[in-house]
Amino acid sequence: MASKKKDIALQIIISNQEQWEESLSSKGLLVVDVYQAWCGPCKTAVSLFRKIKNELGDDLLQFAVAEADSIDALEKYRGKCEPTFLFFGGGELVAVVRGVNAPLLQKTIIDQLEAEKNVLNQGLERKVVKDEALLVEEEETSPIPAQVEDDELLPSGKSYTVAIIKPDAVAHGKADEIIMKIQEAGFEILANEEKTMTESEVRDFYQHRAGEEKFQELIQFMSSGPCHVLIISKSGEEDVIPAWREFIGPTDVEVAKTEKPESLRAQYGTEILYNAVHGSNDTEQASRELAFFFPTFKQQHQHTDESVFMSPERTLALIRPEVLRGRKDEVLQCIQEAGFSIAMQKEVMLSEQQVKEFYQEHVNEDYYPALQQQMTSGPILALALVKDNAVKLWRNALGPTKITEAINEAPDSLRARFTPSEGAINQLHGSSSPVSAEKEINFFFPVEHTLAAIKPDAMEEHRDEIMERIQGAGFTISQIKETNLSQEMAEEFYKEHKGKPFYEQLVEYMCRGPCLMMTLSKENAVQEWRSLMGPTDPTEAQTAAPDSLRSLFAKSILENAVHGASNINHATEKIQFIFGDIDLDGHISWTSNETSTQNTTKDIQQNEERNETTALPGNEEESVQDDS
Ligand code: CMP
Repeated sequence: MASKKKDIALQIIISNQEQWEESLSSKGLLVVDVYQAWCGPCKTAVSLFRKIKNELGDDLLQFAVAEADSIDALEKYRGKCEPTFLFFGGGELVAVVRGVNAPLLQKTIIDQLEAEKNVLNQGLERKVVKDEALLVEEEETSPIPAQVEDDELLPSGKSYTVAIIKPDAVAHGKADEIIMKIQEAGFEILANEEKTMTESEVRDFYQHRAGEEKFQELIQFMSSGPCHVLIISKSGEEDVIPAWREFIGPTDVEVAKTEKPESLRAQYGTEILYNAVHGSNDTEQASRELAFFFPTFKQQHQHTDESVFMSPERTLALIRPEVLRGRKDEVLQCIQEAGFSIAMQKEVMLSEQQVKEFYQEHVNEDYYPALQQQMTSGPILALALVKDNAVKLWRNALGPTKITEAINEAPDSLRARFTPSEGAINQLHGSSSPVSAEKEINFFFPVEHTLAAIKPDAMEEHRDEIMERIQGAGFTISQIKETNLSQEMAEEFYKEHKGKPFYEQLVEYMCRGPCLMMTLSKENAVQEWRSLMGPTDPTEAQTAAPDSLRSLFAKSILENAVHGASNINHATEKIQFIFGDIDLDGHISWTSNETSTQNTTKDIQQNEERNETTALPGNEEESVQDDS
């Protein structure tokens, strides 16, 4: 039968199944705007298509409009309010774009036209895609792996991220389409669980965003319906997290649409809160999120039969006073060269009591007095080292416990290289097992609470970005409140600066508008928050810590966006000042070597009051003296 389709200036009009089939049989790339009878074809796209057609002037490129209701093949598109553009090469579906996203449409047209020419001219294979809406046997052919069983092991040697297809995308029927795109982009979906989060689960999951204006809205949104929680990996990608974040695009949908039009958020998000997909910010967060959604999921260890939770292993290293005094940088360099990253470090002066607690199991040994003497003779450096299999690898690097053995049998080992003299106490420590490592790390880096503030000008301009960074860094926001400081409160808050030339200006600045006051909790929170803020002066921050909050958001040394307590005592005092008496459980104070070399009685009492044991568990090997 002769075609009834009418050639108009730009687009072919396809009105029935027969015309549909005929159009698809034509050579080249066909871009079809699938529309609903009640709203008509997309007018906005026409000028774009015309521009492209004029620019390219290519006969192999054709545009068409097709009404879903009158074409059998488009049955699955009926009733969909979002504009859909289907791309056919030689009659086969090669791409789908949803929504009028001009940059994405333009890019897809150019890319697909080139691909089709390669098929026609060079005989390359056409890359065909599936739009699940066209598939009759959608359920049976779903490529999504079933939900993983409890205690299933993730394959070794791969990195993972947790992804969420949020309730907005699921409610709009986009989940399968997004999953298809994820797979087409080369990501592997290792788990896919459909889940409706309760309000309290959302509150827990997003606790680090508790301070945000739209937190309540976020809770309601995320608990409003089912979402898909996925574990994503990518072959050949050492770290899948940046690849995934790149793929989903910027948090703000508007930014995504201009800067990354092909990203998932640009295509499926509608506004910053309703941005369709989530991805972990970093390995630490991925690990926490994995544990949150898949508590029994484990990663098979690369080199052993052991299985461990996905985060890389941590171990505690100590550099004892004699070596620390003169060769600290050398040791740190060796640590770095051996591929460990230093997650936390703290130089501390231990009291006898604290040494006793740490080395509880060794107290009755002959060498204990010498060990205690060495450990209290000056500051020691405690380091939390991170690496796959860190415990074993760090102990291997250290070499034999006994110095003479180290020197004779493993002269390249760190204990042999960093020893002051034969017969001395070895100068480097490493945890004996993963369990012991966590206990020891907790001994030196207990969960701390610090006071953080977003200052008035930053509240107006950068609040969301700052909260996002706090979230990304893994702090728990234990307390939060928006406060308008009175002059008296600001004076008291900054009483340490009274008399300094900038004091009055500082007080005036802090009273200009509301501040966001928070108690942030985390291992080593005081120091970590200070690192995240960067140096007080933004000029210095820009060179010394270009990614820090002050480098990015501070206007001047005075108007420097954020505040953080300078040490644990200040933190305790300021938290009490802002939030009143609260229970800072599990908090232990160390006397920092920078401020003092003496422990206070309070520190020791706090140490003694802690419930958990921080001494090394039975560890026959861990003798620190060369008793040869
Ligand atoms: P903050 O970390 O809150 O601690 C004290 C604040 O005083 C500091 O951030 C700045 O806002 C301000 N400040 C510190 N040094 C100076 C300075 N030299 N000139 C002006 N303001 C300063």
